[in-house]
Amino acid sequence: MKLNILLLPGDGIGVEVTREAVKVLNHVAVAYGHEVAYSEGLLGGIAIHKTGNPFPDETRELALKADATLMGAVGLPEFDNAPPEKRPERGLLGIRKTLGVYANLRPVRSYSALLDSSPLKNELVDGTDMIIVRELTGGLYYGTPRGISGSGAEEKAVNTMVYTRPEIERVTRMAFQLARKRRKKVTSVDKSNVLENSQLWRRVVTEIAAEFPDVTLDHLLVDNCAMQLVLNPKRFDVVLTENLFGDILSDEGAVLAGSIGMLPSASIGEQRPSGAWVGLYEPVHGSAPDIAGQNKANPLGAIGSVAAMLEYSFGLVEEAQAVNRAMEEVLNSGRVTADLKPAGTPATTNQVGDAICAALGAGRAVTA
Ligand code: IPM
Ligand code: MN
Repeated sequence: MKLNILLLPGDGIGVEVTREAVKVLNHVAVAYGHEVAYSEGLLGGIAIHKTGNPFPDETRELALKADATLMGAVGLPEFDNAPPEKRPERGLLGIRKTLGVYANLRPVRSYSALLDSSPLKNELVDGTDMIIVRELTGGLYYGTPRGISGSGAEEKAVNTMVYTRPEIERVTRMAFQLARKRRKKVTSVDKSNVLENSQLWRRVVTEIAAEFPDVTLDHLLVDNCAMQLVLNPKRFDVVLTENLFGDILSDEGAVLAGSIGMLPSASIGEQRPSGAWVGLYEPVHGSAPDIAGQNKANPLGAIGSVAAMLEYSFGLVEEAQAVNRAMEEVLNSGRVTADLKPAGTPATTNQVGDAICAALGAGRAVTA
């Protein structure tokens, strides 16, 4: 298979973790007989530095042409006080909207080798295996009117939370289809005791659920969900929620996985005529400027995002499973970065990437 991949390493540790993700993807390509063609673009703070725009037109063109996009991270502290349209994050929101990747899949699972990395009790975390489906192109992140106006006592800020029925329907179908391949349970999360937006959300989700009689649906209010995630994480299979709630809950999920550096994500849009699904793949973590350039960052969130890309954009399930198995093997070996608190000397970012490639071995060339 030929894979056309756009790389957007972005800012901070995004550069280092993307390098390891590419190393792993190249290794998989050789081992399984695929051809990868890369293009590379600017997004985020580096794009502001070089072009004045966090999401340059050239990057937009490249993204629309590629089969899938692999991103590092965006964000630099020097932009902390900049207005929203001049911030690196705006680049990320721009590419998500341009690609129309409305469903953000964030798997959260425990690894036995990492149980002690979580501050939560082992028996509570052990066996956690859920996927958060976060609506990604609507809600408060994009709603208008928005902005800050007035001054003095008249100064005010407005954001708007909007969801249309079709936006809720499509992400709900995505969540139920995923649940069908898992433990067949969807938990929809909202704030319907207060927000009209959530009332519509709950009503539409309930209607769509009727198309999937083999999948059970329950509803949780977001505040209660935040508590249940750390009280009883094993109750969750697929968690379906709107953009901002999903952003917040997925960081909480990182505590279950041991480190936010572990979490991959896949953002999926429509299926192209070629059969490939439009996809944007990025680790959940940020650009971590405090450790950038030190070869310390955990590349496993980025490498897991490569596995997600192989599976969701290209249907290469065997290859994806091989990467996931290699990750498990490396975790068990203890060759992990400092965030996972290994017993011995922590491994560097590129040592972890090399260890994943070694664990992958020769792939089909050997097993066939
Ligand atoms: C995430 C990030 C982004 C978001 C930021 C960087 C805009 O926190 O992907 O979770 O809020 O979506
Ligand atoms: Mn976030």
